[in-house]
Amino acid sequence: MVMSSMNPNNWKGKSLAEVDTPSLLLDGEALRANIARIAAFFANRPSGLRPHFKSHKCTRISQLQMQAGAVGITCAKLGEAEVLADAGIREILIANQIVGRVKIARLVELAKRAAPMVAVDSETNIRMLSEAATTAKVEIRVLVEVNIGLNRCGVQAGTPALALVRLIASLPGIKFEGLQGYEGHLVDLRDEAERAEKTRAALGPLVETRRLIESAGIPVNIVTGGGTGTYTFTGDFPGVDEVQAGSYAAMDWYYFDIRPEFRQAMSILATVISRPTPELAIIDVGRKGVGAEFGPPRVKDFPGASVARFGSEEHTSISLPKDCKLGVGDHLELIPSHGCTTSNLYREFVVHRDGVVEDVWPIEGSGRMR
Ligand SMILES: Cc1ncc(COP(=O)(O)O)c(C=O)c1O
Repeated sequence: MVMSSMNPNNWKGKSLAEVDTPSLLLDGEALRANIARIAAFFANRPSGLRPHFKSHKCTRISQLQMQAGAVGITCAKLGEAEVLADAGIREILIANQIVGRVKIARLVELAKRAAPMVAVDSETNIRMLSEAATTAKVEIRVLVEVNIGLNRCGVQAGTPALALVRLIASLPGIKFEGLQGYEGHLVDLRDEAERAEKTRAALGPLVETRRLIESAGIPVNIVTGGGTGTYTFTGDFPGVDEVQAGSYAAMDWYYFDIRPEFRQAMSILATVISRPTPELAIIDVGRKGVGAEFGPPRVKDFPGASVARFGSEEHTSISLPKDCKLGVGDHLELIPSHGCTTSNLYREFVVHRDGVVEDVWPIEGSGRMR
């Protein structure tokens, strides 16, 4: 039998000191402040925000983002889109190619209960989508993805993109909605002026492609791209309609260094399990519980404490200031360098305020890689 104190849902109303570890914490006030801040940016602009789900993977957060004025939700995976639809969100962009019969069959099912949009960049994929949608008598909305320098998916700007648009317009079952161009190679440039300039240069060909398609008599309803590092530039770029920023809501330290206007809402609660020397504490979370693609985690709100060793799967060594009283069994918090891969490791956010658990929110998108 599972002890009731092990069930995170029973932590509501309790002090954080009673929460088992490692746990993924979410500062509710910081989250709401971040959502309000970016909503205020988009409130008086022609462009809108379609926040990325991959950053937190939690539909409760997506619902707050929609209530704050988001035009829809972006996600990376079909499995994420399915959990969004389960939560009643219809306006979903899967900013990725949905390829292969198994996935396309699922997409067609999804189109019966939501209004998904997908990115495309090949004739093969476009023809398969058209055939499956026509057979199932649904309509699938598509965006042609243009490579604007990330060198991931995407056709070249200009006539190669127009050729795909013409193909889509000629086929049944699919509807051309617009273009996607994601400047992922620029979103984390540390220097703000360089980030702004290179982002604008990358978006130029994307918007020129829009104009080319429109001059061919085909309407372009949506041009979308952008992330947390570039939302101010991409959101203000004439001809871009939507921004897909996601990390801003829960944040991580790698983004905090360049976007300090957002508060650090996400952290990992850990327990000291050993004090091998006066200056060292060992905590119960390591690489298996922290997304660390951009570097080791940082210690939250603990002057003089820092990560000394981050190499083990289930341990992290913390260097402590002299005469530190932190003892075995005490808690401390880490801030990950990468929030998106951290949320993917946990089943729930423990939402807190003033040291008390406000609520526990499932991370339904966790592990939904298919
Ligand atoms: C397609 C796409 N759009 C937008 C984003 C922006 O996310 P973030 O807010 O983390 O910069 C990403 C991040 O990887 C992405 O892959």
